[in-house]
Amino acid sequence: MMPRDCAMDLFPDDRRRLMLDPGAVLLGGFALPDDRLLLEAIATIAEAAPFRHLETPGGRRMSVAMTNAGRLGWVSDPRGYRYDPNDPLGGAPWPAMPQAFAALARNAAAKAGFDDFAPEACLINRYEPGAKLSLHQDRDERNLDQPIVSVSLGVDACFLWGGPTRADRPRRLALHHGDVVVWGGPARLTFHGIDTLAPSTHPLTGALRYNLTFRRAA
Ligand code: SIN
Ligand code: FE2
Repeated sequence: MMPRDCAMDLFPDDRRRLMLDPGAVLLGGFALPDDRLLLEAIATIAEAAPFRHLETPGGRRMSVAMTNAGRLGWVSDPRGYRYDPNDPLGGAPWPAMPQAFAALARNAAAKAGFDDFAPEACLINRYEPGAKLSLHQDRDERNLDQPIVSVSLGVDACFLWGGPTRADRPRRLALHHGDVVVWGGPARLTFHGIDTLAPSTHPLTGALRYNLTFRRAA
């Protein structure tokens, strides 16, 4: 169940490929054929690199739990945000990015007009009811020429899609299981976030929502 004020639920045909802005597109259901495989891979990754609630540089515990796969992983702690080749919990390299992840990210990016996307970082976000991600830009990457590819799995969420400044009032767009959003080029630094996750269930994930965010970090 979505909070009532999230989205205009569009006809399925309209959300197969919905332009949000120049450089930003929602590919509705793009990841559906891979859903079980993606969720199994997430479980395997989390055995080696468990989900944890990171601390913001300001000292707050994030409500979203995170882990990573790939050559680099995104981390936050009181020293700041950064990409780290190793999991700070235990110091081992992050689990490798599964082939299926890289292929999905590349195909989604190509479908959105960004060819040859080769991410080396996959941030995995896990939302429980009540978790949210405040408006932010993805700007810790050295390479801003490459897009962001963001995959939704599990419980529906309300995506906040803003503009180039924090003051731009965000649009509210429902994200369903299997949806992929790609943003790059002129939209690469758009402010975005996830509104507080409402209690709900999905047959494959129970009360949880997962998000895979693929980035070229270095
Ligand atoms: C993010 O902006 O890092 C995640 C967005 C999402 O969970 O869909
Ligand atoms: Fe983000």
